[in-house]
Amino acid sequence: MSTYVKGLEGIVAAQTEMSHIDGQKGILEYVGIAIGDLSTKSTFEETVFLLWNKRLPKQDELDAFSKDLAKRFALPAAIVEEIRRLPKTAEPMHMLRTMVSSLAMYDEDPNANSVEAAREKSINILGYAPSIVATFDRYRRGLDPIAPQPGMSFAENFLYMLNGEKPTETMARAFDICMILHADHGLNNSTFSARSIISTLSDVYSAITGAIGSLRGPLHGGANEGVMKMLGEIDSVDDVESFVMGRLERKDKIMGFGHRVYKTKDPRANALQALAKQLAEDTGNMDLYNKSHRIEEIMEREVGAKGIYPNVDFYSATTYHCIGLKLDLFTPMFALSRLGGWSGHIIEQLEDNRLYRPSAEYIGKHEVPYTPMNQR
Ligand code: CMC
Repeated sequence: MSTYVKGLEGIVAAQTEMSHIDGQKGILEYVGIAIGDLSTKSTFEETVFLLWNKRLPKQDELDAFSKDLAKRFALPAAIVEEIRRLPKTAEPMHMLRTMVSSLAMYDEDPNANSVEAAREKSINILGYAPSIVATFDRYRRGLDPIAPQPGMSFAENFLYMLNGEKPTETMARAFDICMILHADHGLNNSTFSARSIISTLSDVYSAITGAIGSLRGPLHGGANEGVMKMLGEIDSVDDVESFVMGRLERKDKIMGFGHRVYKTKDPRANALQALAKQLAEDTGNMDLYNKSHRIEEIMEREVGAKGIYPNVDFYSATTYHCIGLKLDLFTPMFALSRLGGWSGHIIEQLEDNRLYRPSAEYIGKHEVPYTPMNQR
């Protein structure tokens, strides 16, 4: 008899060669390579190649992959038109989830689930997604969409299509680093959702649509928006102590802290902290960084012993703000990056599939007589 574990904590439900997490030591590796090395030496395109192929590309392979991805940055006219008709008030995460679902209807063979077909659909979705977000954001601001520029990377093109001007090298690189850091993370909730859906041999669009729905929750990817809102509620560094203590006393959570797997500081938070500090200095946002840092000090003092430390979402809030992204685009940024991870897991699942079908422990009554309607 297996026992029920609330939240499936510690249950191994898949095998993967994509990412390894040691939550006690604060280690994260993609295909064996430390996340710190990738965030300083790699690019998002190379990282996605690594996750999908379980090895780093040679130069010609990287060039071919990047070119192949870039071909997808330009959206078909019918998709642009569909985005134009969406309510301008829609939340970008609802919009992105809806549009990825919609892409299946423009695919001549949406249900093809060979590994090759899944790769093709994955690169399509990954290429379209930044353009979908940028196009929607421009329409809701009353602006026309901007065509992607050949020769620009995923990160550069996204910022260019959003803002209409070529991003500085520093901003594009900062964004690229965020994309690398969020790309994969073991069997997190949205990845589990994607693997579970594709295990029915449904289709890649359904699996990714489900994953986006999972990611937007405030306990998962939606926490980065929660962090920013929280920072907005604190007037100055001097108010941090009373704010944090008040929340802890009321047993309210501090967004961007705690993790099911990490019991020490998330290594991605270390990389993002350095980035947030640099960008905050460059863009005159040191108040945000200083408030964040003070929250971290107080949380370490109060709940560090319980293993509650900053997670990936904590410093990504300041980072995204300094890059100039609107609050409701923070979680879509997480999704753009995690598309790399979800797709890799969908491919892994299809390579060695078995239907996910766990059990529930029945804790209700037995042998209850059926009561006729007039006697209830
Ligand atoms: N602030 C204050 N206390 C916390 C926090 C927090 N952020 N996180 C956990 N705790 C406490 C919690 O109150 C509980 O205390 P007690 O044992 O006294 O009741 C204990 O730590 C265990 O918490 P839990 O919620 O049962 O732990 P979990 O493993 O189910 O949850 C978590 C993990 C990430 C959902 C949780 O830490 C949390 O809600 N954090 C805030 C939201 C957040 O930042 N989410 C992003 C997660 S990382 C990125 C991603 O996966 O997308």
